[in-house]
Amino acid sequence: MTLSLLSISLLGLLVPLRTFKVDRLKNVNFQGHNGPRQLLKAYRKYSLPIPDGLEDAAEQETQRRRSVKRGIMLKSTNPKVKAANVGAVAATPELGDVEYLSPISIGGQTINVDFDSGSADLWVFSTELPKGLTAGHQLFNQTKSKTFKTVPDQSFTIKYGDGSTASGSIGTDTVEVGGVTVTKQAVGVATSVSPAFVVDVPNNGLFGLAFSKLNQVRPTKQNTFFDNVMSSLAEPLWTADLRKASVGAYEFGRIDSTKHTGGLTWIPSDTEEGFWKFSTSGYSIGNDTFGLTKIAEGHAIADTGTTLMLVHQEVSDKYYSQVPGSKFMPHLGGVTFPCDTKLPDLFLDVGGVYTAKTRRRWRVFFSPYPNSTAKANVEIELCYGGIQATMSTTQIWGDVFFRSQFVAFHGGNHSLGMAPHS
Ligand SMILES: *[C@@H]1O[C@H](CO)[C@@H](O)[C@H](O)[C@H]1NC(C)=O
Ligand SMILES: *[C@@H]1O[C@H](CO)[C@@H](O)[C@H](O)[C@H]1NC(C)=O
Ligand SMILES: *[C@@H]1O[C@H](CO)[C@@H](O)[C@H](O)[C@H]1NC(C)=O
Ligand SMILES: *[C@@H]1O[C@H](CO)[C@@H](O)[C@H](O)[C@H]1NC(C)=O
Repeated sequence: MTLSLLSISLLGLLVPLRTFKVDRLKNVNFQGHNGPRQLLKAYRKYSLPIPDGLEDAAEQETQRRRSVKRGIMLKSTNPKVKAANVGAVAATPELGDVEYLSPISIGGQTINVDFDSGSADLWVFSTELPKGLTAGHQLFNQTKSKTFKTVPDQSFTIKYGDGSTASGSIGTDTVEVGGVTVTKQAVGVATSVSPAFVVDVPNNGLFGLAFSKLNQVRPTKQNTFFDNVMSSLAEPLWTADLRKASVGAYEFGRIDSTKHTGGLTWIPSDTEEGFWKFSTSGYSIGNDTFGLTKIAEGHAIADTGTTLMLVHQEVSDKYYSQVPGSKFMPHLGGVTFPCDTKLPDLFLDVGGVYTAKTRRRWRVFFSPYPNSTAKANVEIELCYGGIQATMSTTQIWGDVFFRSQFVAFHGGNHSLGMAPHS
């Protein structure tokens, strides 16, 4: 491997780049994912050193796709649960499962945002943004809200790995998520966003669900929605039910046992840095009949706002050694394989008490790279792996992981509950 990711600065949290250009049109010619772009996004979010060539690869992919009309619009449903203090919103996959978007209401205005367990700010596109940046986006108009109040002298600035920023002013407003309401929730009203957010048309902001210590409002950090609402919920937790190519849900205050099979296993989370972090120290490929192979204890962050799954180098190497035709592509910064290859299942230890199976068909991150072999003049489609390696001891388990596991985030006792999806 040529990746050198030896240093990691997790405290320099960066909010993910949203980098897809997409027409809000019916998907006629979806080309698959820009794998390098997603890998780059994960590296930047966690301030990992970026391998040579990866930025170029991501940009070339973006250019290649730009001419093609694409985009995927799945019908959004909103299965509201009105009961005690519990709530549910749909988590609708966009751009072929690159991100999951859910509706929230701010001062009565509905806006689709990305629920992100890897950051702790709520901010949205707004009418305060220059017109040139807002085409296609839903915009929050603070003047229109009867409940909005500007919070003077507070602002948010989120810095990206590439130096660009999103920033804006802060106000409080009534925020409702699937029936659960916070009346004075701090909301970042964007007055400036980077091009990466501008081109990610389906997404209109972030809804941070990590711990409030990671909040980027200055001079005074603000609480997340979950921290504000937790004590009033039926149970102090929220759950992520993310599905491949279909609508799942985020729920607050209750665990819907129809969404998972068997009981949940609870794993303590080390929240010192503000992440939903847990230990992991073993793996198996194919099946776990003979138990797991031990590896040096590492940690992983459960991150709904990252697309890919970054695992221990040894796990990735062993995994792809069982995938015929797989190959590390230095210029793409990751492993590809012929798209028609059958992938084995991957079993990973969680907290020494649970084995998470990431199911094979849910783990592929389809990202075909046309590869015309001169000889046969046939195109071999290469897919970009949904699982990639990180040399950091902190692994990032993103949506590729969540598509196999139902996960509960318990704010009362800082633990994660996991079970296979139903
Ligand atoms: C915002 O809302 C106010 C009050 O309804 C309205 O006058 C104004 O035109 C809106 N701004 C934009 C940019 O839509
Ligand atoms: C946290 O709470 C849940 C639900 O009440 C419980 O089942 C679980 O064992 C607790 N986790 C830990 C680590 O104590
Ligand atoms: C699990 O793997 C072992 C070793 O490769 C193999 O002998 C066994 O048949 C496998 N079991 C299942 C259920 O696939
Ligand atoms: C194209 O596919 C062939 C056969 O799998 C492989 O050997 C070659 O490296 C690929 N070329 C590129 C540019 O990916």
